[in-house]
Amino acid sequence: MASSSSLGASPQELRLVALSSPWLDEREEELVVEVLRSGRLSLGPAIDRFEELFAEAVGAPYAAAVSSGTAGLHLLCRVAGLGPGDEAITSPYSFVASANCAIYEGATPVFADVDSRTLNLDPAAAEAAVTDQTKAIVAVDIFGYPCELDPLREICDRHGLVLIQDSCEALGALYKGEPVGSRGPSAVFAFYPNKQITTGEGGVVTTHSEAEWRLLKSLRNQGRADGGGWLDHARLGFNYRIDDVRAAIGIGQLEKLDRILALRRSVAERYDELLRGITDLGLPCPDDRDHHRSWFVYVVALPEEADREGVIAHLESRGVQTARYLPCIHLQSYMRERYGFREGMCPVAEAMSRRTLALPFHARLDAADQAYVADALRAALV
Ligand SMILES: Cc1ncc(COP(=O)(O)O)c(C=O)c1O
Repeated sequence: MASSSSLGASPQELRLVALSSPWLDEREEELVVEVLRSGRLSLGPAIDRFEELFAEAVGAPYAAAVSSGTAGLHLLCRVAGLGPGDEAITSPYSFVASANCAIYEGATPVFADVDSRTLNLDPAAAEAAVTDQTKAIVAVDIFGYPCELDPLREICDRHGLVLIQDSCEALGALYKGEPVGSRGPSAVFAFYPNKQITTGEGGVVTTHSEAEWRLLKSLRNQGRADGGGWLDHARLGFNYRIDDVRAAIGIGQLEKLDRILALRRSVAERYDELLRGITDLGLPCPDDRDHHRSWFVYVVALPEEADREGVIAHLESRGVQTARYLPCIHLQSYMRERYGFREGMCPVAEAMSRRTLALPFHARLDAADQAYVADALRAALV
């Protein structure tokens, strides 16, 4: 294999550059072994510890760990009292779970368009979508960039709506200088292996209400009552528990959260440098005074005239993995069939969705691999 210089890799070189990769080491192994040896595989102390550390990291008073981000979003929709006849406004430019959570409760998702710069829900579009049936807004911090929390909160207050924050991609992001989750509303974080921290599968709901926290813990545990017996069920619940093995992994991940976030930021900054000169390539929007991104993925917007499938194929032929982040939710086949959604409903999201592409991104992506990715992308676009 030819060596690469700081200017990039030679054309004949072929590397394999993975889209994402979790950072796990001896510390997670040690913590997992501890749980295995303890025999407390579920409902044990590792979960309590993980929740305490998570609440501390986010600056929220209460955290309830669950089996996935999707489970957390579903529980918040249940707590909000969403049901048949209700509408929940959300972003079309997101992962399907941020809309599905409302459907699970019998409510109808309503998609409002996004801002082309941040790719987050446009508050004006969200307000224009409010009807007499609207009960909630599910706001997403897409790609770790915090949503327009205060304007959305005002809209919810004005119309008597519940605000749910889908922060599944945004652990460590700051809004107006404070961590997402620290000032409310209730927020959900997710830990699939491509996320900032992973537990394999898993999620956490943060809340500022002790009563809501207790309800979430009951709902995730088959509706068991606080302090009640194993076979006493106070309400209809779910098995949305996380287990202690996964919580142990999460503890190890939280111990190095600051290092993970700093490394991801420097990888993103290196991409900014490497890609800045490519004509008409849109880079992720930079932080501003109110919004500080936690880097989840590095997504570029290809030039409008570019053939995205050709670019993907070229990168693949050079061993560079990419992903079509993100298809519009309302245009997924099950959404079209169920609700009759069509192109043209959210023109900004649809246009961005056709152009955007996730490049390999993780905390320990090395500089030579990034230079190789940048060279391959430049070559694909000529
Ligand atoms: C924005 C968003 N919402 C919700 C989820 C769902 O999380 P999970 O995969 O843990 O169910 C994800 C995860 O991919 C996500 O990115």
